[in-house]
Amino acid sequence: MNFHILTLFTEMFRSPLSDGIVGRAQRNGLVNINLYDIRKYTHDRHRKVDDYQFGGGAGMLFKPEPMFEGIESIRLSANLEDSVPIILLSPQGRRLNQRIVEEISTQKEVVLICGRYEGVDERIRKYLVTDEISIGDYVLSGGELASMVLIDAVSRLISGVVGSIESTQDDSFTTGLLQHPQYTRPSKFRGWEVPEILVSGNHAQIEIWRRQESLRRTFILRPELLESADLTNEDILFIDSLQKKK
Ligand code: ADE
Repeated sequence: MNFHILTLFTEMFRSPLSDGIVGRAQRNGLVNINLYDIRKYTHDRHRKVDDYQFGGGAGMLFKPEPMFEGIESIRLSANLEDSVPIILLSPQGRRLNQRIVEEISTQKEVVLICGRYEGVDERIRKYLVTDEISIGDYVLSGGELASMVLIDAVSRLISGVVGSIESTQDDSFTTGLLQHPQYTRPSKFRGWEVPEILVSGNHAQIEIWRRQESLRRTFILRPELLESADLTNEDILFIDSLQKKK
């Protein structure tokens, strides 16, 4: 998968994306991250990318010309199809979740635009961008960190990026539920023991326990997720029993 990132701060991306799973994915050629400096697409002496708002108001906006020119140049040099998603990271976008991450992971190429300043000229949003994504209801100084969050989450789903040992199958949200509690050795630590069922060797019972603990945790911490999760009849009975205990 190829990510093309239009940003004012190309250096911000180097270290976070060169370590860990995304770093390994890049070295294995499964993920390519191409960085483009927005200033490269300016023509004035000061390489100006922002300007005041018409109508007055605080804060500067990204000018349209460098963004449009940047995207046109990336389209040509990377040979991108017309249908390639062009995603603006901004607090106004649709809120990122695992379903959107899965949807993006099916693409071969994705362009990410990192906003800065107070926002972007509306024509960028209207005539250039095909999607706008926020990583949560808070304001960052720019779209760079949000892009990295998106790249990390999407890369995990690309075939071969996460090994079978690390598997994404049970990740929280992949199942629509939060993950069940997990334990590793030692089985007794400072007097706290691992739940007996997990060392029983009874795999069928362990699966039931894990499912129920996932449901319990989701019920307590993120009950709204249960509305869209894929639930069996047994799950529903179990949730009913939790409700009665409340
Ligand atoms: N840029 C600034 N804040 C953001 C957010 N919450 N999500 C995505 N991009 C942003």
